[in-house]
Amino acid sequence: MNFSRIITLATLSLFISPAMADDSNTTASAKSTKASAYSIARGGRLYDKWFKENKTGTPDRANPSYPQKGHYKGKKGADWRCKECHGWDYKGKEGAYRKGKHATGTIGLQNAMNLSTDEIINILRNKTHAYSDSMLSNKDALDLANFTKYGQIDISKQVDNKSKQVTGNEAQGKKYYETICAVCHGLDGKDEDTPPLGQLANDNPWEVLHKISNGQPNNEMPALRTLGKQVTLDLIAYIQKNLPKK
Ligand code: HEC
Ligand code: HEC
Repeated sequence: MNFSRIITLATLSLFISPAMADDSNTTASAKSTKASAYSIARGGRLYDKWFKENKTGTPDRANPSYPQKGHYKGKKGADWRCKECHGWDYKGKEGAYRKGKHATGTIGLQNAMNLSTDEIINILRNKTHAYSDSMLSNKDALDLANFTKYGQIDISKQVDNKSKQVTGNEAQGKKYYETICAVCHGLDGKDEDTPPLGQLANDNPWEVLHKISNGQPNNEMPALRTLGKQVTLDLIAYIQKNLPKK
């Protein structure tokens, strides 16, 4: 961890005014939640790749519930990730994973926003999911339930389904990018370990939205969900149209 990054992030958090921290443009139910922003964002990182976030290690067996037809031969453990069945847009077979190599025919999680967190936790321990408590602790399960209930961000009205282009204020996005992201990702969003951000944002804006909102599993990247959905949309619009795709 680079020391200057810590300073930048600490300074940043001082400038987040209460108005900006208002989560009102995410989901209606988020307003009344007693769940902490920490728990919701951590739940988001578990949703992304729980075994990296909670450091339990990659599962060494295939997920028996993963549909065998058209099995996605991804990296080991991929079939245990929530996102692999329910999608980066949380819409399952109604969303981006309705077709292509990740298609599983799994339902989306929109209706689960109406369940209680206890009900969601029970679903994670059910026969379909079969997450044992050595895979997900009770705290992990609660964070996942809080994310599922309060943390889903819907950008279907701001993404063009065909071109995947996101509507947002690019000029604002540039300011956010250069002051928040560039310190780690560079002004061009290119780093040796990951695909260029310009490429990822054009291929999968939902994944980038999820990462910006919740952070990267077990990593130093901050979760920006409290800054609100518009900040994220502006960022993605800027990255899509201005950063190099390769
Ligand atoms: C192998 C595919 C698969 C994975 C991985 C998976 N799910 Fe599911 N999920 C399903 C299926 C199939 C259903 C519907 C049947 C059921 O509820 O058991 C479902 C249902 C749900 C529901 C209930 C939705 C509703 O409207 O009733 C919730 C909540 C849920 N999953 C959350 C999660 C979370 C959180 C994770 C990650 C920790 C996860 N799922 C991982 C396949 C998966
Ligand atoms: C404190 C440093 C830091 C900051 C600030 C930061 N990131 Fe990250 N980000 C990371 C690290 C580290 C990774 C993981 C890279 C890896 O896995 O090799 C990452 C991963 C990502 C990924 C996923 C890449 C992939 O292929 O999995 C995206 C997208 C992303 N960051 C976007 C952003 C955006 C947009 C911002 C600004 C809002 C931002 N990050 C701010 C450190 C940071």
